[in-house]
Amino acid sequence: MNPNFVPPVNPQQIASPSRDIYAAMGQENISRMIDDFYMELEKSPIREMFPRDMRASAEKSAAFFIGLLGGPPLYHQRYGNPMMRARHLPFPINQGARDEWLACFERVLEHATERYKFPAEHLEGFRKFLHGFSLWMMNC
Ligand code: HEM
Repeated sequence: MNPNFVPPVNPQQIASPSRDIYAAMGQENISRMIDDFYMELEKSPIREMFPRDMRASAEKSAAFFIGLLGGPPLYHQRYGNPMMRARHLPFPINQGARDEWLACFERVLEHATERYKFPAEHLEGFRKFLHGFSLWMMNC
């Protein structure tokens, strides 16, 4: 982490995704989508940033996304205040790493309506959220 680094985004301008997404998908489909995202991370150039066994990471992320998309606040209940930027500070997230992370998510979103019942009308809003929030995770 570079203490002088300023993330290229104002977090107040990042709109949360629609909470209707959870109503359409449910917990199981969101968890499957995140599992598939982690399978993409497995094959990606940023694989080494993650622990060798990514099952716990995938579960934590699923808990976060379930709450974010309108479901029960599982992440808060299990792990406390998300403070996502602070939790990502131990990992050197630069533009290149962020782009790889986003590309992994994009590969999953390409099939999300048919595979996980992701509501098509909310895909653009969700992509915008990922785009902005992943800029906010950058720290170098
Ligand atoms: C929309 C943006 C992002 C969201 C919503 C997100 C979400 C999460 C969540 C919920 C966790 C689990 C935190 C915990 O340990 O409790 C996590 C961990 C992590 N994330 Fe992200 N993340 C984002 C962007 C990124 C980016 C851009 C990178 C790197 C390029 C990244 C790398 C990591 C790493 C290395 C971990 C730790 C995994 C572990 O130790 O289990 N994340 N992220």
